[in-house]
Amino acid sequence: MDRYAVIGNPIAHSKSPRIHALFAAQTAQALSYEALLGPLGAFAATVDAFRAAGGRGLNVTVPFKLDAFTYATRRTPRAEAAGAVNTLAFGPDEVLGDNTDGAGLLRDITVNLGCPLTERRVLLLGAGGAARGSLLPLLLTEPARLVVANRSSAKAVALAAEFARLPSCAVAVKLEGCGFADLAGAQFDVVINATSASLGDAAPDLPAGLYAPGSLAYDMMYGKG
Ligand code: ATR
Repeated sequence: MDRYAVIGNPIAHSKSPRIHALFAAQTAQALSYEALLGPLGAFAATVDAFRAAGGRGLNVTVPFKLDAFTYATRRTPRAEAAGAVNTLAFGPDEVLGDNTDGAGLLRDITVNLGCPLTERRVLLLGAGGAARGSLLPLLLTEPARLVVANRSSAKAVALAAEFARLPSCAVAVKLEGCGFADLAGAQFDVVINATSASLGDAAPDLPAGLYAPGSLAYDMMYGKG
């Protein structure tokens, strides 16, 4: 039976084993899918052991998406753009790294929730792997304004500057990076939380009044519930 897992730290909260068991049932595949706790600083050794035990592929979550990027021997273009990998497939001669975060996020917001992003004011919170993976697909929807805000403002400023330089970002989108306090007085139609704050049941410390009437607040993470 094909063996898969999601690797992260923490991982006990993950709903991936249940979700993938349902996918397997829907598509009549015999597979096992477990939650793998990756010790911090030992990502490669943990993945090596999983492969040696017959593992075929992994989903990768906090805080290992950059380690997974390095671990992959080949990467899809969208993983290269994101600079992070959330899916590893183990072939006989290579490890393919992909990043499905951005595509999944956009599909959920625009299709499942019926909320268009084009010409809306969008706020992306966080500057880690999840935020990085979402930036390019978000930019390509051509929002009126896209602000990346992070607790450590320098990381958001650097991330926004990096993506603003990409040729594919030559669309007329105003892309800015800042700290949370710099958001005071601004209003947004869509606020996406790509920080890992909610994994610890915390909320990012944001100024009041950010949400325009009828706005959407979206959390990319979920905690223990
Ligand atoms: P991920 O791959 O999920 O993005 P990450 O690369 O570890 O994980 O990044 C975590 C992000 O969540 C960072 O933007 C981090 O902010 P800092 O760069 O300032 O550390 C953010 N984060 C984590 N806990 C937070 C909290 N309690 N409040 C606000 N931001 C938080």
